[in-house]
Amino acid sequence: SKEGFEYYMLKEIYETPEVVMDTLYGLKNDTNIDKIIDKINSSKRIIVVAAGTSYHAGLYFSLLLQRNGYTTIPVVASEYYNIKTGPDDSVIAISQSGETMDVIMAIRKFKENNSSIISLTNVIESAISRESDFKIYTRAGPEIGVAATKTFTTQIAALTFIWSKIVDKKINFESIGDVIRSSLDKSGEARRIGEELAQKENAYYLGRGISLPLAMEGSLKIKEIAYLHAEAYPAGESKHGPIALISNGFPVVFVNTGEFTEELQSNVQEMKARGALTYGISINSTLNTHKEILLKVSDENLAVFALSPIIQLIAYYAALARGNNPDRPRNLAKTVTVE
Ligand code: F6R
Repeated sequence: SKEGFEYYMLKEIYETPEVVMDTLYGLKNDTNIDKIIDKINSSKRIIVVAAGTSYHAGLYFSLLLQRNGYTTIPVVASEYYNIKTGPDDSVIAISQSGETMDVIMAIRKFKENNSSIISLTNVIESAISRESDFKIYTRAGPEIGVAATKTFTTQIAALTFIWSKIVDKKINFESIGDVIRSSLDKSGEARRIGEELAQKENAYYLGRGISLPLAMEGSLKIKEIAYLHAEAYPAGESKHGPIALISNGFPVVFVNTGEFTEELQSNVQEMKARGALTYGISINSTLNTHKEILLKVSDENLAVFALSPIIQLIAYYAALARGNNPDRPRNLAKTVTVE
């Protein structure tokens, strides 16, 4: 049941604080984690493979590890044939359903090359977990909305936890529920931005570093359910072409985890100078956009958990403003079991 929420998508976004905490609890008590961490730490390369929203979670994880000097290769599952793996490589396959055929085909090929397969799925004993050497799980519970929401945030929680173990970093996971709740408190502001974007034909979502996968996820979500043409770009790259599209009123959404505030502020100025209508979803400091959702997070490692529900809420309210049913986007299936 929707428990008083108008749509499952909204209900599921509001379940995020609880299911993220369940996921972290599950991982802390998972006796396989140490073996998995050792495996990753002794690998030559870490191949991260997934599709859609799960790919964005994987890209986030890849970027985190790259900064610690690990060699990671994020792979869009359907493009698996471009990558030749070997026995010294570990593969991390991320899939909410655990049934996505593109991911299954990819891990079968990587297994033929004797790479170790670690899966992160939301469904216990799914096809993907059955075919992997190590299995870990998110605990988001069933997701009815076709567009992934709470499951994405549990994926990034699980991956942040694993990253913190791999690189031995202390993160204040105790506060994660509060971080997500304070973000949900800004739903009115997200609604206003979503309703404004719903009036537009196109939008850019820009980010830098860790905020790039969040920008990619924001643009995917608004495409899927609001049918708004949105493209994500690395903010710095936007001046190498995409900026040509900017004219009066073109909306540009900036996503800022707090790590590249100055660089993003100057991208905002470049866009404003060409007439863009700028929006910011920003942690701890302002980007000086026309409209902004400013979120306070004391541990910036948790910034993504404040950003994730906001980009989802923006898409949700844009979909409602366009008269769409956000739970059932056209042309999409919850689980894609064909290649
Ligand atoms: C986006 C969405 C899809 C899935 C993709 C992978 O909202 O739901 O992009 O993320 O089809 O699905 P899983 O994670 O089940 O492998």
